[in-house]
Amino acid sequence: MKHLTMTDHALAVRKNAYAPYSGFQVGAALQCTDGSIFTGCNVENASYSMTICAERSAIVQAIAAGKQSFRSIAIVGGKTEAAAKTTPCPPCGACLQVLAEFCDGDFPILLTDGVHKLKEFLPNAFQLT
Ligand code: THU
Repeated sequence: MKHLTMTDHALAVRKNAYAPYSGFQVGAALQCTDGSIFTGCNVENASYSMTICAERSAIVQAIAAGKQSFRSIAIVGGKTEAAAKTTPCPPCGACLQVLAEFCDGDFPILLTDGVHKLKEFLPNAFQLT
């Protein structure tokens, strides 16, 4: 079988997204430094602000499995699979802050338009100094 890319994993889990309110399905695949991969999708709620983003869903899965060291994350999102494969879906501010808890500024964020760095999207993460 063909080797699956990180984006393939994100596209696969995107199909499980629960997004009846926005109609916007997101998938994220987080690779740990040991090579293991944890995925997450957005999970919406009738109480809208309770919605969980795909990226935080993936991070929570990994942390619960005992992983805290990450190599990269791939993210795809869109109202259709075709859109998700072409239009880049950068992580929201809340997810960037959660990523910054575990990853440094050079952490690679794989979108459909190429590889970005965490510091490109969040140059000044909040820190308790
Ligand atoms: N969403 C994510 O899953 N990740 C993001 O980084 C931004 C937005 C989800 C939340 C909501 O279910 C839908 O996309 C539309 O905002």
